[in-house]
Amino acid sequence: MSNTITLDESITVARPLHEVFAYISEFSRIDEWDPGVARGHKLTDGAAGVGSEYRIDMKAGFSLHYTVIEFETDKRMLMDVGSSLFTAREEIRFSSTPSGTTVRYIAQFTFPRAIAAANRVFPGIMDRVGKSTMEGMKKALEDNFEPPAPSRKLALADRLVLPGIWRFTKLGYRSSRKRWKPVSAFLENRHAVITGATSGVGLAAAKELAGFGAHITLVARDRTKANAVCRELRAQTGNPHIRVELADMSLMADVHALAARLLAAGKPIDMLINNAGALFNPRQQTPEGFEKSFALLLLGPYILTERLRPLLAAAQSPRVVNVLSGGMYSQKIKVNDLQSARGTYSGSVAYARAKRGLMILTEEWAQNWSEDGIAVNAMHPGWADTPGVENSLPAFYCVTRPFLRSPQEGADTMVWLAASTEAGKVSGKFWLDREQHPSHIFRFTRETAEERNQLLHTLQELLVSTTPAKAKKRARRRA
Ligand SMILES: NC(=O)c1ccc[n+]([C@@H]2O[C@H](COP(=O)([O-])OP(=O)(O)OC[C@H]3O[C@@H](n4cnc5c(N)ncnc54)[C@H](OP(=O)(O)O)[C@@H]3O)[C@@H](O)[C@H]2O)c1
Repeated sequence: MSNTITLDESITVARPLHEVFAYISEFSRIDEWDPGVARGHKLTDGAAGVGSEYRIDMKAGFSLHYTVIEFETDKRMLMDVGSSLFTAREEIRFSSTPSGTTVRYIAQFTFPRAIAAANRVFPGIMDRVGKSTMEGMKKALEDNFEPPAPSRKLALADRLVLPGIWRFTKLGYRSSRKRWKPVSAFLENRHAVITGATSGVGLAAAKELAGFGAHITLVARDRTKANAVCRELRAQTGNPHIRVELADMSLMADVHALAARLLAAGKPIDMLINNAGALFNPRQQTPEGFEKSFALLLLGPYILTERLRPLLAAAQSPRVVNVLSGGMYSQKIKVNDLQSARGTYSGSVAYARAKRGLMILTEEWAQNWSEDGIAVNAMHPGWADTPGVENSLPAFYCVTRPFLRSPQEGADTMVWLAASTEAGKVSGKFWLDREQHPSHIFRFTRETAEERNQLLHTLQELLVSTTPAKAKKRARRRA
């Protein structure tokens, strides 16, 4: 009596072979296309290949351990599978067809006698499992999804404050995750520029995008730390196309110099992620005389993004992702006091106002840059367990720690906005866990059209006056 069951299923999709191979061979993404899988984890460092190992947690409550034993790029991969219930050998073969790519999945399972007998009593169970897996794979590769529309339920939860705040925790992440669609976009050769990529959610986003094969420019202020991160990311992902650009994003001279270097290099930018951030207490000024929250969280991203517009416009499906915070819901932009010079200073208020300003810019750029096909969106990472939160908000960190999400979970929406095909179809919105949220929940935070124009005017003036030639002249006049 045989204890083995063999499955042999195929699909054909209208995508080039190398794109299909890149997506499926990164096997940890199986949770996007196999409906029986809860989560895939890559256990080994480096690019997918012989020796790569994965732990696949099944929704049924057990795990599978995959080891790649044969790997031929764009052709096939053969894996040994171990678990407490069965062992298997699975082969995935890839071939080009006139209409795209055929994926053939051949698996031989060896079950204990009792399970094999059950399969004979209920024939077809394994066939159905195989078919639904391949259907999931086809759907993922077809990549034909629409961005989620705004939801009244979410907007109401935000307005009621506490239900909205609950969504910032890891529980909110887990609840939203169930509705997500696969991201099978092909990012090899796409260029991502990420500020604040040496720590927290920026680092997690850089790792994820590097895992997709994108070319990454890590913008960082500390050379030693940045080089260490760069080496680590290369080793973890096997992606050699990761490089460092140094800039203190609160110093406009650095921001202009960074923009000038990127423009001179001329490499189109597919993804610009304005993520660098910090919260400052007490009030601090940069050597250039700007209040630090304003400089780092608003003026820096404004100047960088404005100056990089030509490189964004030259990309295939360009995206700007601005990393904001739910804190902005509590503040209106103060156009006559952008640098928090009046009244009692609060770091949290200055931070929230700067984030509010970046939300306004998100909407403005979305509208004005649509002619260049640039999608500009903003996101909130939720409350993530990062060095930034631990250092700047120790009391908050202590109380909320059990509910904080991981940096990877906080970075997910950043990556989705930058990478997914459907996110390129929407612009000017605010997102948390791949879901649209209103940009205001209280009336008192809404700015008038006049205030908006004044903000844009002030920022533009500062862009001009801080460009190196003008800044030099100004310094000479002051001297
Ligand atoms: N974590 C959360 O719960 C949360 C919630 C809402 C919003 N956010 C936003 O998420 C973003 C990342 O925060 P995080 O929590 O991941 O914090 P983090 O762990 O402290 O990371 C902040 C990153 O920004 C960089 N950075 C800070 N000041 C900089 C400067 N002057 N020039 C260049 N880079 C600078 C840091 O570089 P160094 O490594 O050199 O310090 C680091 O790479 C921020 O914009 C923050 O406002 C986070």
